[in-house]
Amino acid sequence: MSSFLSTALSSSFTPSSISSTKDHYKIASSTQISLLNKKPNNQHFHVSACKAIPPQRKNNKNSSSSSLSFETSKVDRRNMLLGLGGAYGAATIIGDKLALGADCTDLPLPYPDLTACTKSVISPIPDDPNAEQVECCPPTPLSEIKPYKIPVNPVKRIRPAAHLVDEAYIRKYMNAIEAMKALPDKDPRSFYQQAKIHCAYCNYGHKVKHPVTGEEVRFSVHGNWFFLPFHRWYLYFFERIAGELINDPTFALPYWNWDAPCGMTIPAMFVPEMSPLAGETRPNPLYDALRNPDHLPLNNDQDRCRQIVFDLNFNRAGGDNQLPDITRVCNNLAFVYRNMVSNAVDAERFMGNKYYVGCDIGRGAGSCELLHNPAHSWTGTTQNNNEDMGNFYSAGFDPIFYCHHGNVDRTWDVWRKLGGNDFGDQAWLDSKFFFYDELGDPVYVSVKDCLDEEKLGYEYQKVELPWLQARPPRKLEKSDVAANSTAPTVANAFPAKLDKVIKVLVQRPKKARSASQKKKKKEILVFQDIEYPMNEFVKFDVFINDEDEVGDLMSKAEFAGTFSTIPHGKGHEGGQVMASSFTIGLDEVLEDLQADDDEYILVTLIPKAGGNKVTIDGLKIDFV
Ligand code: C2O
Repeated sequence: MSSFLSTALSSSFTPSSISSTKDHYKIASSTQISLLNKKPNNQHFHVSACKAIPPQRKNNKNSSSSSLSFETSKVDRRNMLLGLGGAYGAATIIGDKLALGADCTDLPLPYPDLTACTKSVISPIPDDPNAEQVECCPPTPLSEIKPYKIPVNPVKRIRPAAHLVDEAYIRKYMNAIEAMKALPDKDPRSFYQQAKIHCAYCNYGHKVKHPVTGEEVRFSVHGNWFFLPFHRWYLYFFERIAGELINDPTFALPYWNWDAPCGMTIPAMFVPEMSPLAGETRPNPLYDALRNPDHLPLNNDQDRCRQIVFDLNFNRAGGDNQLPDITRVCNNLAFVYRNMVSNAVDAERFMGNKYYVGCDIGRGAGSCELLHNPAHSWTGTTQNNNEDMGNFYSAGFDPIFYCHHGNVDRTWDVWRKLGGNDFGDQAWLDSKFFFYDELGDPVYVSVKDCLDEEKLGYEYQKVELPWLQARPPRKLEKSDVAANSTAPTVANAFPAKLDKVIKVLVQRPKKARSASQKKKKKEILVFQDIEYPMNEFVKFDVFINDEDEVGDLMSKAEFAGTFSTIPHGKGHEGGQVMASSFTIGLDEVLEDLQADDDEYILVTLIPKAGGNKVTIDGLKIDFV
């Protein structure tokens, strides 16, 4: 075990690790603040508790799919598939290799052509001329867009866990967001403009000039290898602007530590409409009215500090499950473990598929993006088109977005410390994004320049990583569920619509591989070409050699992973189709199931939301 791991596992949180003065982050004494800082009841939670969960569930609603009806539009399917590169069919995949078509390059993504930015379409069919649109383009730069120069020897910013901050920090943070909100809307540093950055980059407002054909090509920073670097740069500038506005170069954004039991609730400072600080009467700039009221911690006199435990397995369409909190916490830890370890086998599986400009391929969120989706749904599932957090175009308008993404960015750091290696592809390293810096100057930045957080001048407050110990326990006995199953094989089961539970027997090309073979190549299960409407939330869970068809317990060896999406627009009447892949790492799961010698595994897909709108082309086992 690396020293990082043992420190992470054994050390308990020390306030001094984030500040030179020991008292800096200590819990404040005013009543209101101690209310804010009161830790969830599960603060003494120990992962071993997850091993003792009774298998029964309580009042599970078992809603397997949304009740919304879906008619595939009569439009030619090729026109409905959202070609992220624009040129549909320019590339095909032969074996593992990308075959480059005329418009498909392996060149880096240029920064967006701002003159080509269009309103972001938020209705179900983006190519519909009557589609509803929102203006998300950035202000036109008044000066030349220059390469951004990272300050040499930057002042250190230490990003704190949101549930551990004190009154002084909250005041500073509120001041910074308040100052951003007070800037005129046209100021690129205003909260309004910052929020729109996400909409333009994630809801197809921006276009890049194709490096060969010159054609304007729309793209997204979701579902591909730009997910982490784009959001890292986005937070970097947001944080610097916030610090600049309060004149504090050490100001650091907080992170929502939802991967640890104490952080598994919406951080209290975001909740009240008015300032939570004693003696203050101003509105709380961290408040957002468009959040799911059922998921807010309750700070009222009747129910003081009741914590609502965040559910990483939130099914959205099915509403909240009725599992006991402890089960939810254990599910969450297992969910984090699967996405951070079991399924995060390499850069592509963790960070997302490669995406090249002009190639209509490569959409596939990495396990890190899939791990990130639930906090959006959990916070933002509202009647109002899931605004703010639950929809891409509006997510940046909730201040908690930046706190959530702090944690997402932190998972990148943790994954690397656990041994993960970034992409080495020049096309990725040299890809560029456009931002305004803290002085309001237009700049472009490269992926390669954001890989070293120390160089960028920030780090994360160190906390424990309880999910590292949450690998679901190994089965004591080998199960015969696959051997006795009469489920169809892949060829007979796919393509399939996910309107019901699918069980399929998957043949393994190799079995009982040695430890060194496993080290060299990881066995993965790939879901090919999952198609779903882009304006919908869809979710399905995957279990291996499981007898259950409900699948609401994740802290067991059979749970392998979850696929979920975040809607891109409004409406529920169909919508443009997205195509995506999804991957699961099999090595650990099969070891824990004692199924490593088996020729067939039984894969169960359990639709949890929107399944009647999802089709899957196929399923295969690969080695990467
Ligand atoms: Cu660009 Cu969490 O989203």
